[in-house]
Amino acid sequence: MTDPTISPIADSMLVEPATSLRGRIRMPGDKSISHRVLMLAALAEGESVIGGLSDGDDVASTLAIIEALGVRVDSEVNLSGEWVHHIFGGDLSPAASDLDVGNSGTGMRLLAGMLAGLPFSSVLDGDASIRRRPMDRVLNPLRKMGASIVSRNADSASGAGMAPLVINGGGLRGIEYHLPVASAQVKGSVLFAGLLADGPTTVVERWPTRTHTEELMTAIGIDIERSKVGGLDRISVSPGRPDPFDHDVAGDPSQAAFWAVGASIVPGSNVVIENVYSGPERSGFVAVLARMGADVTHDEATGDLLVRSPPSGALEGTTVRADEIPGLVDEVPVLAVAAACAEGKTVFEGVGELRIKESDRLAAIESELGRMGAEVRAEGDCLVVWGRSGRGFCGASVDAHRDHRIAMSCAIAALVADGPTTINGWESVSTSYPTFADHRASLMATEIEN
Ligand code: S3P
Repeated sequence: MTDPTISPIADSMLVEPATSLRGRIRMPGDKSISHRVLMLAALAEGESVIGGLSDGDDVASTLAIIEALGVRVDSEVNLSGEWVHHIFGGDLSPAASDLDVGNSGTGMRLLAGMLAGLPFSSVLDGDASIRRRPMDRVLNPLRKMGASIVSRNADSASGAGMAPLVINGGGLRGIEYHLPVASAQVKGSVLFAGLLADGPTTVVERWPTRTHTEELMTAIGIDIERSKVGGLDRISVSPGRPDPFDHDVAGDPSQAAFWAVGASIVPGSNVVIENVYSGPERSGFVAVLARMGADVTHDEATGDLLVRSPPSGALEGTTVRADEIPGLVDEVPVLAVAAACAEGKTVFEGVGELRIKESDRLAAIESELGRMGAEVRAEGDCLVVWGRSGRGFCGASVDAHRDHRIAMSCAIAALVADGPTTINGWESVSTSYPTFADHRASLMATEIEN
């Protein structure tokens, strides 16, 4: 699925400070939705037509996996120059070799749910980072449903299960599962398994998380019930494969957040970010930036996110409460960049989950923004940033920790540095946002129109 219009990704990136960010950019398709849409299309018997898929490596891995399971995928570029994928699903069969999710935790956890329900054996694996990430959070509920899953890489001390996973699928029973962590990946994994179980499956969540799985399933006609009982959200799915469907994936808000912060910290900026998904539990960063004094609005009619430099000139520190975190969990690194440019202290509470993302993001933010002169400390479950309003960052040589969001957050900080910044390990951005550098160049090149 290599797009010839995307520039090759270098392994390091030199970012010069910006005088302003101006212009319009269109976001790539949402990564979370793209994984789910591909899996639903793989289960549906017949042809589904998908537009706007994420062009990152993570989603390419999920696409390659459904092909390895026997699904035919025809891809074409339409008259508007956009990719359209025709997915001929329904007839899934064992793959000839191990299935490789690459760097994608979402792909790994969601696919584990689907494969647990399919009546054959699969081995699900990924890169070195995936092999270190905890999988018990999906193995526990899937085993309760009757799945036979063996970790070939259990932690020798704790026994915790990690990839590769050997999944002997089929014979699942529906269960009621209370999520022990606020994780949309776990919810999604159990609901996908529920589609292939012998009775209804209910996930109960104490903290609302991204709703893509249930939204998409409902949109394509799967029987999903949502209710609130005793303050807890209950999401129930009945077994059954979806019918084929057409879907256009909206733009990724997590990628838009980079430019929302960029335009809020680079003076004289005025950016329109087109086609941004604004569903529940994804727009938390907009509310936090607005609370910090940013001029950011989501135009519901067009889906565009409009961002200008704040009228007051500077952002203000804030407290981001633990209950807000699931709605902006991927945006904490770049919000920390905004906080470092704000007046006063910002505290992100209850962000322990960031330690088990593509990198230990709390350690990575502390060390790399620290190299750029920011005062940031990870204290227990919290991240504390002491803002240096008006002073920006120092140009430095930083490391991406093999994590796309750390690489791109440093690139946004570099826009307000006092000199050039080199980001080593830049190639990690290809997992989610291969056109980031092109978008940066276009926003820095646009002439100021009054
Ligand atoms: C995702 C959920 C979040 C997020 C990840 C994508 C999803 O992870 O960090 O990038 O698509 O469901 P958790 O479920 O671990 O919170």
